[in-house]
Amino acid sequence: MPNPLARREKTMQTYDILILNGPNLGSLGQRQPEIYGSLGMDTVPAMVQELLGDNASLVNLTFFQANGEGALIDRLELARKEGVAGVAFNAGAYTHTSLAIADCLAWIEIPTVEVHLSNVLARTEDPIRQHSYMGKSVIGMVAGFGVLSYALAVQALYLHLKTA
Ligand code: DQA
Repeated sequence: MPNPLARREKTMQTYDILILNGPNLGSLGQRQPEIYGSLGMDTVPAMVQELLGDNASLVNLTFFQANGEGALIDRLELARKEGVAGVAFNAGAYTHTSLAIADCLAWIEIPTVEVHLSNVLARTEDPIRQHSYMGKSVIGMVAGFGVLSYALAVQALYLHLKTA
């Protein structure tokens, strides 16, 4: 008689999620903490664990940061080849300037959540931060929660992928 628990384990789907950071996001916690917070990316896995509980083991997180536009596009193209299920992407200033990154997201067909540490919509001193080139190619955006924004994006991706 087959063990029903073993069968359940076999059918548990796992998701490879890429957490991608763009320019000036390599030293989080040190860069302008009054805007971007004092926590580093190393705190994200514990936050994901807290948000997803037992289901945290169903998401495999990979982290990548690059300052250059080309390197970010190369990493997204690689993610497509690898069959990555979802991307939590903080493109930094490229969010507001890069047609090339927007073009990449428009064709690779990986569900992507746009992430920002700060609440870009409230940064009225720099109106350009309220515009996102990538916005039309992402499934949603999380902004304003410091590094928690990444964990919330992973949670959103997990639930989105699970119910898709
Ligand atoms: C940012 C907001 C961008 O406007 C800025 O250029 C960044 C960080 C954020 O996470 O709040 O580098 O993406």
